[in-house]
Amino acid sequence: MTRPKVFVTRLIPEAGLGVIMAETEADVWQEQLPPLPEALLQHVRGKDGLLSLLTDRVDAEVMDAAPGLRVISNYAVGFDNIDLPAATEFGIPVGHTPDVLTETTAEMAWALLMAAARRVVEGDRYTRAGKWKTWEPQLLLGRDLRGSTLGIVGFGRIGQRMARQARGFDMRVLYYDVFPNDEAAAQLGAAYAEFDDLLQQADFVSLHTALTDDTRHLIGERELKLMGPETILVNTSRGCVIDEAALAVALREGWILGAGLDVTEVEPIQPDSPLLGLSNVVLCPHIASASLRTRSKMATMAAANLLAGLRGERLPHCANPEVYER
Ligand code: GLV
Ligand code: GLV
Repeated sequence: MTRPKVFVTRLIPEAGLGVIMAETEADVWQEQLPPLPEALLQHVRGKDGLLSLLTDRVDAEVMDAAPGLRVISNYAVGFDNIDLPAATEFGIPVGHTPDVLTETTAEMAWALLMAAARRVVEGDRYTRAGKWKTWEPQLLLGRDLRGSTLGIVGFGRIGQRMARQARGFDMRVLYYDVFPNDEAAAQLGAAYAEFDDLLQQADFVSLHTALTDDTRHLIGERELKLMGPETILVNTSRGCVIDEAALAVALREGWILGAGLDVTEVEPIQPDSPLLGLSNVVLCPHIASASLRTRSKMATMAAANLLAGLRGERLPHCANPEVYER
């Protein structure tokens, strides 16, 4: 029996790659940078399966180039890099990796939140620059978590995890979601708030929405002004949920106190981004799921989705289950 042909767009952890190599004829992109669109088109041609990353734009053109494509497995929980309606139209199930990265991603949101609240990165720079001359009563004063209000925007798996962890810090938790979940909220001690109310009341706003047409630039000038000068904004979702030009002005002019961002509108961040010159923003290179254990689990799950699709079985974690109803 000939083995199915797959294109894997980057080296993923061995836990998943090993399985894929054993079961398929795999064409694995070996470079550090993702394949350019032309290379993606070229490599997907003639393949039965595609394992993609969030850096790969998988649109109808890609699907068109590979008429035999039976599955797209995205190595991420998010799938805004994939034209999902097109995949459904082509009858291609799309896999993703939810659950395994929930805690790890929420922990990163805390890391950014605390780094911004307690000015950890500024402190590190200050120390390395040799500026630490004595213990100072008013050096790098930040914000307490205890007794403050956390506003969670997007109350899915990661947002709910964030709410659970907030209890340990004695924070009040508000959440906003287009689909309120009273039951989970009651269990986690979180309260629903209208979007504007949440922005006005929260000391910390943490974003956990998927990127869709409705959430693109969800946070812009109006929202940043509602937050107020003591508020810290954290984003571990997708960069485009924030209007970054507005955020840069907000940080520079003190509409909000600070921000912690794991994601940016353009990734990687461009060298001329105004954010790079601001000390009240902590910037990370989209690493919220990047723990050794979690990236291995994601690889295992992405491989399982890929192989299930190749066998014609239902994907364990499918982003477009409607594909099975056609
Ligand atoms: C990371 O951003 C993911 O969607 O898994
Ligand atoms: C600070 O180090 C203190 O002892 O208050």
